[in-house]
Amino acid sequence: MKGIMFNIFESFIIKNFNDEAWEEILEDSCVDETVFISPRSYDDNIFATLLNTALQLKQLPIEKTLVSFGRFAFSKLAKHSHHLVEKYDNPISLLEELDGIIHVEVRKIFKGAETPKFIAKRIDDENLELTYISKRNLPYLVEGLIYGLADYFGKDVSLKWEQDLENYKFHITFK
Ligand code: HEM
Repeated sequence: MKGIMFNIFESFIIKNFNDEAWEEILEDSCVDETVFISPRSYDDNIFATLLNTALQLKQLPIEKTLVSFGRFAFSKLAKHSHHLVEKYDNPISLLEELDGIIHVEVRKIFKGAETPKFIAKRIDDENLELTYISKRNLPYLVEGLIYGLADYFGKDVSLKWEQDLENYKFHITFK
């Protein structure tokens, strides 16, 4: 997992709690790293450890926390990669190009980034079907990122998803 995701997670904890909460999470996690460099890659297990420590310390449910982290993360990613999102005027067009353009550019900026695979199928101007394929299996994070995307474009969104073998299929409506 790229350092930028750790940096965003740190901001998420500090915004919802405070600096001390992040220090406590680092300490209780007993991870070697305490500072994460945005373009550098770190073992996914380090992220999982920090997340699990945060959940335990703050008594948070994993699903809701991943959704709200995803929502928060989209605004940070969009700010960081403004040049990638500014050409879109609606969330469906962005999701259609997430796999073929956005994450392709992300992998150029962040060498060695392991982005998931998405297959987008536009149904009409408001509805989209999105299949999420990743060994990391983080559908709740995807859900949150989609809420963050809707916030970004000032849209209302409703969605449901189901597991489809190893993958997850999202049915999304933006209004
Ligand atoms: C501004 C647009 C975006 C940028 C700059 C961006 C960038 C990134 C980066 C840097 C990573 C980390 C890869 C790694 O650590 O190896 C990542 C992972 C991920 N991205 Fe994006 N992303 C964007 C939009 C989205 C959107 C809209 C979604 C979902 C609808 C999404 C879904 C994910 C997921 C789920 C992961 C975690 C990895 C996995 O599941 O395998 N991203 N993205």
